[in-house]
Amino acid sequence: MEGSLSNSHFMSHVLFYTFAFLVLALPVVHSASVTRHYKFDVRLQNVTRLCKTRSIPTVNGQFPGPKIVTREGDRLIVRVINHLNRNITFHWHGIRQLQSQWADGPAYVTQCPIQAGQSYVYNFTIAGQRGTLWWHAHLSWLRVHLYGPLIILPKEGIAYPFPQPYKEVPIMFGEWFNSDPEAVIQQALQTGGGPNISDAYMINGLPGPLYNCSAKDTFKLTVKPSRTYLLRLINAALNTELFFSIANHSLTVVETDASYVKPISTNTLLISPGQTINVLLSTYQTTPNSSFLMAASPYTTSAGTFDNTTVAGILKYTAKILPAIKPTLPPFNDTTTATNFNSRLRSLASPSYPARVPMKIDRRFFFTVSLGTSPCPKNATCQGPNGTKFAASINNVSFVRPSISMLEAHYYRFLKGVFTGNFPGVPLIPFNYTGTPPNNTFVNHGTKVVKLGFNTSVEVVMQDTSIQGAESHPLHLHGHNFYVVGQGFGNFNPNTDPARFNLIDPNERNTISVPSGGWVAIRWLADNPGVWLMHCHLDIHLSWGLSMAWVVEDGALRNQKLPPPPLDLPKC
Ligand code: C2O
Repeated sequence: MEGSLSNSHFMSHVLFYTFAFLVLALPVVHSASVTRHYKFDVRLQNVTRLCKTRSIPTVNGQFPGPKIVTREGDRLIVRVINHLNRNITFHWHGIRQLQSQWADGPAYVTQCPIQAGQSYVYNFTIAGQRGTLWWHAHLSWLRVHLYGPLIILPKEGIAYPFPQPYKEVPIMFGEWFNSDPEAVIQQALQTGGGPNISDAYMINGLPGPLYNCSAKDTFKLTVKPSRTYLLRLINAALNTELFFSIANHSLTVVETDASYVKPISTNTLLISPGQTINVLLSTYQTTPNSSFLMAASPYTTSAGTFDNTTVAGILKYTAKILPAIKPTLPPFNDTTTATNFNSRLRSLASPSYPARVPMKIDRRFFFTVSLGTSPCPKNATCQGPNGTKFAASINNVSFVRPSISMLEAHYYRFLKGVFTGNFPGVPLIPFNYTGTPPNNTFVNHGTKVVKLGFNTSVEVVMQDTSIQGAESHPLHLHGHNFYVVGQGFGNFNPNTDPARFNLIDPNERNTISVPSGGWVAIRWLADNPGVWLMHCHLDIHLSWGLSMAWVVEDGALRNQKLPPPPLDLPKC
């Protein structure tokens, strides 16, 4: 299974994994849980897309990276060996990391990076979670190449709360740059301007027939009539929310971010970077005489340039590819379709999968989630707005990544010079967030956190602003899931909006978009001691500082305390 990258080999990987998933990866085990070992050899590999060959970082030579399949209750041990000549870390996106906080992965937050030639073992148990998640690198823009599915099956003998699918297929969206993305972000941070855009989107690493030179690099899914398929959609794109649709087939959403939802049927869905969505696809009863494109295209209200291209794969019922019907995707700025989709999602909230929405709130926060600017350094010229540099912030604090790990600083009480606890819970200077932006759009810089006592119930209203243009921001919280209790457009009104909150069956997620020109309210229980990043999952906004961190203090009981670091934890 070692990493070959030609398409036929890639396809055979897909087929093998699909088969393995159904037959081999499910040994009948009678013990309650299993330990699964993976080895990630991170090394460069030549990969050709859009007729350009680039040497990119890969896991085991594979692009996209290997699929991890595990079960609720299992322990995962992933030994990472860094053969690159640069730093790296891995994050297990959506895994709660209860009692394994040191395995979360964001660089300089829960660990120092794994340096060139070094290794680190990520060791964690999957407790109380099942569904589609994913893993990715968590340093600079390395996740553009280093990502893969992390699939958690229900415990043995536990069925899905929907019809058992005939087959399960991961559909992972990615973004391809013809140039080196590390050079793209370095240049953007230096000039202060917007980054160069990507050249293609991909499905399972393949751009598909709508791009130059890529017809042979197309993801193809061959289905049988009258069957139900479970598609595990994952948006691993760097900077782009995506609409997705399959021609002449409706999709039934059954899970988001590894939490079951009340099934909803849709022709088009929206998936933001960081999010995962499981959908059921029912095939035609008789073999149709055409093939069907499955396609994804951007959703953005950004004032800047963006990659306005479409990735397509082929859904086919026959060995031969018949002329394909194309789906209709919404226009790129179709906020109505985006909002309608998100607002239909509800937790399953069944006796087996209850929605544990915090009812009594201990701490309330109001965060502006915003673009902004920084002054251009003396004697330099900058390409951001009006000769400044682009920045981004929460409550006007632009996150400065420290140079040693925050979790170590917290554990060893070594805080001085690493971070401070004075992250503002509300904007220091309130303004009309979605009206005419203020004249001064400069951000403050700092590594500030909010400290929360163990088991604090938290409500955060996240408000987009019109500074440098209203934009949707997919916010991701590490170490916890949250419930999306409300959303709306314009400025959040604390007197009237909470009355409309859904506290019965709100969507449970780890990543939610703050609507462009609007707000979203989330509730969660801080029951996981440690240091947890919350950030925009558009990597350019993260690079500009759209991030903050929560420090959850220890509880009284032994399993409510941050355990000591593993012995092989990398040093800075
Ligand atoms: Cu998927 Cu902090 O990221």
